[in-house]
Amino acid sequence: MGEPTWTREKLQLLVQREIGDYKLIVVSNRQPYVHDLIGGELSYASPAGGVTTAIDPLMQECGGTWVAFGGGRGDWLAVDETNRIQVPPDDPSYTLKLVWLSEHQQQGYYYGFSNEGLWPLCHNAFIEPTFKTSDWEMYREVNREFATQVLDEIDGRPAAVFTQDYHLALLPRLLREADPDIITGQFWHIPWPTYEIFRICPWADELLDGLLGNDLLGFHIGDHCDNFMEAAARVLGSQVHDEYNLVYHKEDPTLVRQFPISVDFEGISLESQSPEVAAEAESLIEKMGLEDKIIGLGIDRIDYTKGIPHRIRAFGRFLEKYPQYIGKVVFIQAGVMSRTDIGAYQLLAEQVDEELEKVNSRFGMGDWAPIMYLPDDLPAVTLAAFRRMAHFCVVSSLHDGMNLVAKEYVASRFDEDGVLILSPFTGAASELTDAVIVNPYATDDFADAICEAVEMPYEMRHERMVGMRSVVEENNIYNWAARLFVDLMQGTRRSRRPIRSF
Ligand code: G6P
Repeated sequence: MGEPTWTREKLQLLVQREIGDYKLIVVSNRQPYVHDLIGGELSYASPAGGVTTAIDPLMQECGGTWVAFGGGRGDWLAVDETNRIQVPPDDPSYTLKLVWLSEHQQQGYYYGFSNEGLWPLCHNAFIEPTFKTSDWEMYREVNREFATQVLDEIDGRPAAVFTQDYHLALLPRLLREADPDIITGQFWHIPWPTYEIFRICPWADELLDGLLGNDLLGFHIGDHCDNFMEAAARVLGSQVHDEYNLVYHKEDPTLVRQFPISVDFEGISLESQSPEVAAEAESLIEKMGLEDKIIGLGIDRIDYTKGIPHRIRAFGRFLEKYPQYIGKVVFIQAGVMSRTDIGAYQLLAEQVDEELEKVNSRFGMGDWAPIMYLPDDLPAVTLAAFRRMAHFCVVSSLHDGMNLVAKEYVASRFDEDGVLILSPFTGAASELTDAVIVNPYATDDFADAICEAVEMPYEMRHERMVGMRSVVEENNIYNWAARLFVDLMQGTRRSRRPIRSF
């Protein structure tokens, strides 16, 4: 394979040139490193989820400050008196500044408005959003708190603030009102719903007003950009220039563009080839009795958007339809529990257990079960070993902005083998067209897709994996960031500045 278009080093040079004297600040709800305190010992881990997976490698290259909510039990011990800590803890390259939120604030802002309101609103998973005025008020309060912390970090200097995701939709407007010279960009990591759905939010206009405080607003795919621009036009009456992807609100333009997010292809590919991952895979194969098995894999946050019960049902149907594979094909479902204070997530955990019980009791033999469920926070080396071992990986989201698990699987297959089964309702499906694409609701088709993956001849697996790897290698995370930075620093209000080529 040739040299990837964008590398860490090229991105670093670009950012230095584009950012210049501007201070770069990333803001998100979730922090990239969470500190825990177990038996008086301080430890740290990287949380699951697309935001930290994608943005941490960039910050390591570009430096700057990442402002996030300090949600770890050991965070208060890890930070200095200004609530800052240099990260990654093993080899620091940027500053993490933590924002403290009370239990009451977390309930209203994070569990409430963000995850019981906006999350189901933006995902077609048929979970009704809950909109409580008290949650909305807390969401506004916490967005104001983030604005105060970011402004304190900027301290009047020229700055570019890159906000992440749906927890902080009001932040850009607050920053612009405080200092119109701040460059504001935001990436919305989840889908943006159609106008018909979006307008059920009682505070639809305020959310749009907040987001239109951005110079640049990014989504994964064009459909989400179109949905957003339609909402701006119909809810706020904003002027939309489709041909330039510009929305004018309160005289100021916002550039709305698609930036399909990605992973550190090279880093993951190299990690997968490391002796540690090889040793871990060998030991897992032995410990789990997988020597002569065909292995399927799912890695997810346990979330109702991921289609986990659908996948288990389809695997059961596969064994029913193709009984010759009973005892020969196993499925490893790794997952980390998520947002467990929310009723819909507790219900999902019960549904997953029920579906598992049905399949395992029907097709299991003695203490052997066809589906191995590991709902634990597994170390990165174990996940990498699973990706390396798996003959096929299943991503069956009911709706997903991108889905980086799919790209991680592809990036880790340095052996150019393995099959990806992918839902068409992910952003990744528009890029990874060599995957076996299947509708997770169509259980019979899904079972056939598993059979197709199991029986696919080597030449075809190889050809399709090579195709997918070249897509992820080319559109890697550095490419994503480079395009975003150029648009952020040179787009819209900044177009007065001379355009520099790179
Ligand atoms: C998704 C969201 C992220 C979020 C992640 C994990 O990927 O887009 O913003 O961080 O899920 O969810 P959590 O609620 O644990 O932060």
